Amino acid sequence: MDFKELVKANRTCRRYDESKSITREDLVGLVDLVRYTPCGKNKQALRFALVADEETNAKIFENIFWAGFLKDWDGPVEGERPGGYILVFDDNNYGRAMPEDVGIAGQTLSLGARAEGKAVCISKAFKEKEIKEILGLGDNMNLLLVVSVGYPLEKVVIDDIHAGDDIKYYRDGDMVHHVPKIVTEDLLINK
Ligand SMILES: Cc1cc2nc3c(=O)[nH]c(=O)nc-3n(C[C@H](O)[C@H](O)[C@H](O)COP(=O)(O)O)c2cc1C
Repeated sequence: MDFKELVKANRTCRRYDESKSITREDLVGLVDLVRYTPCGKNKQALRFALVADEETNAKIFENIFWAGFLKDWDGPVEGERPGGYILVFDDNNYGRAMPEDVGIAGQTLSLGARAEGKAVCISKAFKEKEIKEILGLGDNMNLLLVVSVGYPLEKVVIDDIHAGDDIKYYRDGDMVHHVPKIVTEDLLINK
């Protein structure tokens, strides 16, 4: 797949084939990609907790929020939930990461997963206190992203839109998710 095809295929996925398991080694492989990414001052302040066992997966799942625009959907049902999670932190005792570092890490994890036929959902809506308790982490750790990982079940279609159009994603039928994306011309401010 060429790079543009990979970026286009790299859509958020919220329903996964849970019969295909994700291993800790799979998640280590994705974090190994982040090691090579740029970051402010080359500080490398991000730290990662990996979860890929049934019991902890279930606990993490209870503490993340899915698809704010899909008002009548409570998140993936059993059998369609993520097979693992990468939880991205920084540590006050080491020093904070820059927000840009977090975005680069999230996109790198996502592209890496998609290149292997997996898919992710990056989440910023989560219960930090509860998740840190589950993982036994102290107040010094700041949860920055939860990246859910699995094998995709749902099909995602990109709809071209213009700046000012409705940007809300929506479902068409059961397994088709539409994500509106503004055309390039409308992103350019100096025409
Ligand atoms: C920083 C960030 C935070 C996000 N937080 C959530 C979230 O809490 N819950 C969720 O279901 N999706 C979340 N998403 C996924 C976005 O909704 C998704 O990226 C957007 O709808 C566009 O879809 P696409 O990723 O396929 O382009 C987040 C994505 C990013 C980059």
